[in-house]
Amino acid sequence: MGFFHEGDLKNCSVHLSEDGRAVVIVDQTKLPNETVYLTLTTKEEIYDAIKVLAVRGAPAIGICAGYAMYVLALQKSGMSYDAFAGAMKADGEYINSSRPTAVNLSWAIRRQLGVIDENAGKPVPDIIALLKEEAVQIQIEDIEMCGRISEYGLSLVKPGDGILTHCNAGPLATSKYGTAIGPILLGKERGIDFKVFADETRPLLQGARLTSYELEKAGVDVTLICDNMASMVMKNGWVQACFVGCDRIAANGDFANKIGTSGVAILAKHYGIPFYTLGPTSTIDMNCPTGDDIRIELRDPEEIKNKWYEKPMALPETKCFNPSFDVTDHELLTAIVTDRGIVYPPFDVNLKKLFD
Ligand code: MRU
Repeated sequence: MGFFHEGDLKNCSVHLSEDGRAVVIVDQTKLPNETVYLTLTTKEEIYDAIKVLAVRGAPAIGICAGYAMYVLALQKSGMSYDAFAGAMKADGEYINSSRPTAVNLSWAIRRQLGVIDENAGKPVPDIIALLKEEAVQIQIEDIEMCGRISEYGLSLVKPGDGILTHCNAGPLATSKYGTAIGPILLGKERGIDFKVFADETRPLLQGARLTSYELEKAGVDVTLICDNMASMVMKNGWVQACFVGCDRIAANGDFANKIGTSGVAILAKHYGIPFYTLGPTSTIDMNCPTGDDIRIELRDPEEIKNKWYEKPMALPETKCFNPSFDVTDHELLTAIVTDRGIVYPPFDVNLKKLFD
């Protein structure tokens, strides 16, 4: 059964505006207290929305970039092919520099630039129409991929199991269902219940603000915990599986995900709990040999010291280290759940087979 249904696109956290000239996103920085939509038309607005995490989550960033390339192309319809192709390449490079770790951003931009290259010499308005089709296709594919990931993920757990997750890999971060949250939401649709533990995910609190919000709204039994409580919850026997998302999976199975993920994997190994990352094939980067080759984004120390507090929680001169992601060693992974199936070790051999 296909997971994409007519009408799905306008319900996604990223979509095209009614008049088709802007990218509309749910501003994820305002959740859970307010649901605010942002309408983005300039490359600076798109760059900033990705940078400040108004749109976030690897697949959602890729979908946003796909639509952004179309919206920016519309503004260049009067150009010659060469001027158009050059300006689109420059816009793509600029947007791609907003966040470095999630591969879906460069992947979607490359797909759109590929459309421009493959249609060299055709009238620019015709190429722009193809860019729209490609952007929509990227989103429909994401819905289908998340649906299949959810189906595979669901096969790994039993009704009533406790599932621990870190950060947010639900519909807000993708298109529909999500990746790590997908099996839980698909299960709910089918009357299968789980007990979910959501790490709050310091410092930007995606687990508290977004995951617990999405799961509460869906009627899922979710318990919010601070990141440093995961060990106790596991020791108590309340967790039967860990499901996390991913921002880039290297060819050997090492993967980058939200900071703190590798700690959860180490704890899971200690307590003998299966640990899975769930992600679409668009998040697998076969050109990246190992986790050491993944560039990790460093963010503003203010996110640690000031962001959520009335008063600063550290002296202005106190040094902070604020990496947005960490790399989990493939040896800690039980399996990688993709839209093309569940990949078990040896990951270097079996990931390659996915693309053969
Ligand atoms: O910095 P963020 O909030 O964009 O980080 C997001 C994550 O780490 C997610 O787990 C990942 O992008 C997968 S989303 C399906």
